[in-house]
Amino acid sequence: MRAAVYTRISQDATGQRASATRQLKDCEALADRLGWEVTHRYGDDDLSTYSGHARPGFEAMLKAMADSEFGAVICWHPDRIFRSMKDLERLIAIANGHQVQLRAVKAVVVADLRLPGERRAVTGCPAVTPACEPVVSGADAVAAALRSADVAAAVVQADGVARTWLTAPGRDVIAAALTPRWSRWAAEQCRPAVAAIFETVAAGGQVDGARVGEAVTRAIRLALFGVDDEYALWEAVQQRQPVGGDDVVSRLARAAPQLTDEEIFLLASSVHGSGERGGVGQISDTFVWALLHLASDTGLAGKLRENPNDIAVFVEEIVRLHSTIQYPLRVALRDTRIGDLDLSAGDMVAIAAGAASRQGDGGDQVNERACKHWGFGTGQHRCRGNHLVRAALRVLVEEWLAQIHPCAVPDEFVPRYIPGRSALVELPLTWQT
Ligand code: HEM
Repeated sequence: MRAAVYTRISQDATGQRASATRQLKDCEALADRLGWEVTHRYGDDDLSTYSGHARPGFEAMLKAMADSEFGAVICWHPDRIFRSMKDLERLIAIANGHQVQLRAVKAVVVADLRLPGERRAVTGCPAVTPACEPVVSGADAVAAALRSADVAAAVVQADGVARTWLTAPGRDVIAAALTPRWSRWAAEQCRPAVAAIFETVAAGGQVDGARVGEAVTRAIRLALFGVDDEYALWEAVQQRQPVGGDDVVSRLARAAPQLTDEEIFLLASSVHGSGERGGVGQISDTFVWALLHLASDTGLAGKLRENPNDIAVFVEEIVRLHSTIQYPLRVALRDTRIGDLDLSAGDMVAIAAGAASRQGDGGDQVNERACKHWGFGTGQHRCRGNHLVRAALRVLVEEWLAQIHPCAVPDEFVPRYIPGRSALVELPLTWQT
């Protein structure tokens, strides 16, 4: 069969141009394995589809697909081929109409918007506004919806695409790797690098907290994986030793020795995250919110320094107030009733978990005791990263308090979300040096 390969890199400043060659090589190898002939190659380079720029390679590919010039498209990872719901809809419409197969080197399913059956549930990226109507709200209905076996998770990510990477066994493997004890050890491995970053930052007297978050993401990835980019992660997965060290890849491989490199990569990359997004990047997004609270409440840093045991409560409160997933999404697997809502099989529903976490005790301030919340979800899709998130946030807050004198944000500062993420665009912080 004649096949097209599509490659895309979103940045060049970091020398990622080489990645396009890498993507092409891997895609061609997959074509080889499938016995397909690569007759067309398309690429987009250094263009951000997020900012609405055209993608000439993608457009040319759609046109050739519509002209039936090839019967299959291969990309490295679904992320490479579509970055918006609109792209996806156009691609699927033409692919369906012309019977074009879509394959990705790094994911089993490129795009599958059907009803998720068993082993197809996904979550991942946060959203701060409900991605659909209706919305389940109220603490009791939220708890029931999160626990219901009649619905499956199907989170639409920031780019509008419902990802399908995580299976039920996959969740168990992640849970087996990220145990509470290992998570505490892993957080300590991050401490020296984080302390070094904050020490440098401390000397400046001012910083954009969002940029600190990005530096922290890189430091955590290096400490837990030995690499801080997805391509190097793929190499690390392929080179894994049967009995490795205590990095995430080795632990996943030991927890499930039967998994293929591709399967380990999918799980490892869900913990690692991609670019600034997802995986451990969510820890940094949450930490930046913690910085906002520390800067806005003048007495808070002092209280936490005096009572370091309260740091765990503070961390819990930050997760409650600023969970990275404010509206988990579900698809009804069968006709069912949740709260006041009658759902038919296939209906999509958003769960107002973030709002429910702010109901009752607590509110919008940081309390002296931990409140009940759904910041890590509950039920079968509850966050398997929660031990690591708690331990890492604790280390981050401890190190920040140790290095930075009480900091402040300008009175007129208005927090802005990165679209589709429960993360701050910027956080101007100042302090006395
Ligand atoms: C080390 C970073 C993290 C990892 C490895 C991780 C991992 C996971 C996994 C495996 C799931 C289950 C998904 C599913 O069953 O479909 C999950 C769900 C969830 N995670 Fe995390 N997570 C991380 C960070 C965070 C952070 C920082 C927060 C919030 C502050 C968070 C909040 C949630 C929530 C609310 C859910 C439930 C989603 C739903 O019900 O659909 N996660 N996470």
